[in-house]
Amino acid sequence: MTSIRKPTSEAIVDAARALDGGKLVGVPTETVYGLAANALDAIAVGGIFAAKGRPATNPLIVHIADIASLSRVVSWPIASAINARLKKIIDLWPGPLTVVLPRGPAVPDVVTAGRSNVAVRVPKHPVMQALLEQAGVPLAAPSANRSQYVSPTTAQHVADGLGDELSMILDGGRCDVGLESTIVDLCDVPRLLRPGVITVETLADRFGLPIDVLTRSSDSTDVLEAPGMMPVHYSPTTPIQFVCDSESIPQGRVGRIAFRSLDASESSQYAVVEVVSEKCDLKEVSQNLFGSMRKLDQMSLDEIVIDTCSDEGIGRAIMDRLKRAAAR
Ligand code: TXA
Ligand code: MG
Repeated sequence: MTSIRKPTSEAIVDAARALDGGKLVGVPTETVYGLAANALDAIAVGGIFAAKGRPATNPLIVHIADIASLSRVVSWPIASAINARLKKIIDLWPGPLTVVLPRGPAVPDVVTAGRSNVAVRVPKHPVMQALLEQAGVPLAAPSANRSQYVSPTTAQHVADGLGDELSMILDGGRCDVGLESTIVDLCDVPRLLRPGVITVETLADRFGLPIDVLTRSSDSTDVLEAPGMMPVHYSPTTPIQFVCDSESIPQGRVGRIAFRSLDASESSQYAVVEVVSEKCDLKEVSQNLFGSMRKLDQMSLDEIVIDTCSDEGIGRAIMDRLKRAAAR
């Protein structure tokens, strides 16, 4: 089992050294924990796919310390039409936003699954920032969970799923955002590949585009343009149902994830209740959702029943993850 380390400057130096030696490190970001390797080291990046059991066709996000480091990973200079799009949202960095841009020559094929574009993010978490600076290289990092399982939002979640595969895990506390970054492809007319807490409404406003243009599906013949966005994803092992779909009183040992506090008579119908937000504050729901899903998934329940919210703003990202979790 790997060690979970407090993010002292010594631990950050050790983590950077491990990355330099081609090893894998569990890292905190403001969205979810990542499983990091030196993005410019094809063999180390290959280790990420092996550790996660991730298909080689599913590309990785490259994390950089700052906007100035973009030239190391994207085709440089950025074509003017693409750069004009980037400028409209670049102030959202550092933060929970990933952009897809034409790939630079230093990025190995294994990172992008052979694609001509690369997903890039400048994360905000101070520990990840310190590590990027210390390592001095871009870091490829998917969420630090086994392929198709729920993303980790604490260092312990990472250890639970991937403890044997990592040289160490930096403990940056519980993730502030709790859902994976918003992904937008800027190579052509902007297109949302994954909703997140930077909302499609914000992006639509920035680009001056209608939401349905941003969220249109690809008309290309490419099999899967957001290759990681398979219908079954983020799935606990326990079957998931939405509250609105289960009118009758639950049968068996059922857990409930609630977006508001429940009264005693409602609570008593469940073997366990996790209130992720007392008053349906969607930021709180995002923060706590994955942790609660993991917790209930370890309780040998027959079923987990989860509340829903409206499909707009942050709610769009929450419902996206819930629909995938329920799709198994
Ligand atoms: O918040 C996050 O984005 C976290 C933290 C660790 O940064 N990372 C994360 O990585 O969620 P991952 O690998 O679990 O999800 C990345 C998604 C996948 O669906 C992948 O297919 C897509 O990004 N992706 C990566 N590179 C891409 C590319 N070049 N073109 C299109 N989609 C890409
Ligand atoms: Mg993931």
